[in-house]
Amino acid sequence: MQTIFSGIQPSGTLTLGNYLGALQQFVELQDEYDCYFCIVDEHAITVPQDRLALRKNIKSLAALYLASGIDSNKVTLFVQSEVPAHTQLAWILQSINYIGELERMTQYKDKSKGQEAVSSALLTYPTLMAADILLYNTNVVPVGDDQKQHLELTRNLAQRFNHRFNDIFTIPEIRIPKVGARIMSLQDPTKKMSKSDTNQKGYISMLDEPKQIEKKIKSAVTDSEGIVKFDKENKPGVSNLLTIYSVCTGESIEALEKKYADKGYGDFKQGVANAVISVLEPIQEKYKELIDSEELDLILDKGSEKASITAGKTLKKAKKAVGLGRVRK
Ligand code: TYM
Repeated sequence: MQTIFSGIQPSGTLTLGNYLGALQQFVELQDEYDCYFCIVDEHAITVPQDRLALRKNIKSLAALYLASGIDSNKVTLFVQSEVPAHTQLAWILQSINYIGELERMTQYKDKSKGQEAVSSALLTYPTLMAADILLYNTNVVPVGDDQKQHLELTRNLAQRFNHRFNDIFTIPEIRIPKVGARIMSLQDPTKKMSKSDTNQKGYISMLDEPKQIEKKIKSAVTDSEGIVKFDKENKPGVSNLLTIYSVCTGESIEALEKKYADKGYGDFKQGVANAVISVLEPIQEKYKELIDSEELDLILDKGSEKASITAGKTLKKAKKAVGLGRVRK
């Protein structure tokens, strides 16, 4: 069985973008692959976090994974900082990762732009991400479109390490959904939907009340043409809503265009809102049952125990390959 690894940052409540671009595919893939799904709290601290909020978000993300349909009997669900091998391998990989490569990362450029104090962890973030993936002999990494560049770097680092030291890392493939890989902001459809958006109307949180969801979709930016048609260039707002509608219902974009051919944006937006609510409402109900349960802790305990075993084996091989530590007499 092939292995999957993917991670999500516990930095605020997940958005519909995280769900459609990542979580939804995780659920589909869990039967076919040996899956490791991680709550990447060490990635979250590359930008300032409130400690109590971070603690809360870690548990909340675990509950969201499970509420979305991740089955803890099938997958390994764990918290990154509970498996020290991640930062240990990241350090080794930093020794072969050039500063120039890291400075070229779009996400680094975006997040550091205009900031006075940029942490060195923000720069080396992709190296930690490479360590996450390579520790588990990962074959496939399901992610949204924005992680492509980080995945390319991971592949390069794995190849460089294998070539320079010893052939120990599996070269991972990226898996991006055909539709929904980049859900855009509802207020500025040329920008990615993001939980760090200062305008709350730009994103739908997975825990937004149905009424809020409806309101946000109804105020989504479209255009003055009044025609429901997919055209990313000229109609980014409508195209984004069509994408959301299609991924939430499984109906094709062409079928939706036909369905709304004689109707205005009012009807269309109502349809989108209903589709989103019907996906998120059952998840929210399960989330409420899970968030304060003891079961959540037991699942995460089991997850970090299992992840530590696999990760520990790879770390040992990597340390040996570069000559770290001692050989006993
Ligand atoms: P993060 O926490 O920003 O996002 C988690 C996942 O959600 C996807 N995503 C989106 N997909 C579609 N439309 C959007 N608007 C949207 N916004 C986010 C992301 O592509 C991602 O798949 N660096 C990663 C976390 C990470 C990781 C890893 C991922 C750390 N180590 C190892 C894979 C493998 C991140 O910040 O994702």
